[in-house]
Amino acid sequence: MKLIEERTGRHCLCLPSNRLGLYLALRHWCAPGQRLLMSPVSADEILFLVLAAGLRPVIAPLSPRDGNIDAARADLSAVDAVLTTNLYGLPDQVTAFTGKVLVEDVAHAMETSVGGRPLGTFGAAGVFSLSKHAGAGAGGVLAVADLADLKALERARDALLQPGSWRAELVSVATSMARQAALRLDLVRPALWLMRALRLQEERDGYRIALLARELAEALPYAPSLPTFDPWVRADLHDYRAARGRLSRWYQTRRVAKVPRERERRLAGVALLADLPIAAPAVREHLDQPLFRVPMLVDDRDAAIAGLERQGVATGYLYDPPYDDYAPGVTVPSPDPEPARWWARHVLPVDPLYARRALPVLRELEPAPALSLP
Ligand SMILES: Cc1ncc(COP(=O)(O)O)c(C=O)c1O
Repeated sequence: MKLIEERTGRHCLCLPSNRLGLYLALRHWCAPGQRLLMSPVSADEILFLVLAAGLRPVIAPLSPRDGNIDAARADLSAVDAVLTTNLYGLPDQVTAFTGKVLVEDVAHAMETSVGGRPLGTFGAAGVFSLSKHAGAGAGGVLAVADLADLKALERARDALLQPGSWRAELVSVATSMARQAALRLDLVRPALWLMRALRLQEERDGYRIALLARELAEALPYAPSLPTFDPWVRADLHDYRAARGRLSRWYQTRRVAKVPRERERRLAGVALLADLPIAAPAVREHLDQPLFRVPMLVDDRDAAIAGLERQGVATGYLYDPPYDDYAPGVTVPSPDPEPARWWARHVLPVDPLYARRALPVLRELEPAPALSLP
């Protein structure tokens, strides 16, 4: 992926998904049994791929300013490695983790930089997702500094890839194209209905996939092993480790090329949304970053989601409850879980590309009640 190579100045490995890249990076740089500091608020599959890699997830305190790890309050002496999330594109305090193995999940932060340096270049590995800013439906890129690491990771990738099929690839590309068209044509409500009817989204208990605690307990002794954890890691992307061919590569390249062209529109949307009193505090400090989503903190999120849907704005990327409440037995819980619960319950991520459509609804929303601190 030339554009990401140029942006990061790193060696890049193409993958069918970001999650496969995160697993490969964690296996490459961490030893089974090591402790990994991670945010309590990220996509379901991330927790499970950490478990699949044989690591112990140590849940960090969360900053209510940006929804990322509160580095100042995390006990770095108790962990071997750190996984950042860069939630919705807002950067983690990436320079606070020196001395630890750092793996950067830059799924949401393809266009974010810190001090002029792109995210994804601070850690041992930066892992991009092509289904986010680029809207390519699927695809990932793992960026690393050293060619020897790239070669080893490539071999590990090939050992885990499953054979793809041109038919599955065609369906995946056509579905992504249809989704993009529905957004452009303001057909979000019928598109969401169709996605639900076709079961393109995982069944969920609230916002998280079913934990299947008994099956998970049975799988844990097999870690490190990705295939054993497929039932969890594949959430919403069942072919997350299927080999892709020319059609996907063509589509992904085309979609990624659009990202820089959308930069100005994205920034304009961020500026509009940052002006609202309900915007998360850190948004106003990052007006120069083309965020993936702009987090709002609202009182009645369900009503807000319904209102936005009527305006043709779909809401996704909600990670509620925090991991240590969702899967208590398998994590080292956060020393201070309340800010993460509050953030997970109240955050409403809004696509800056659709800021104008969303504004009439957002202007009427009540802010989240203040976080009560002990
Ligand atoms: C924060 C975050 N990281 C990683 C992923 C996984 O990306 P992919 O679907 O490319 O595996 C997601 C997907 O939603 C995500 O939201």
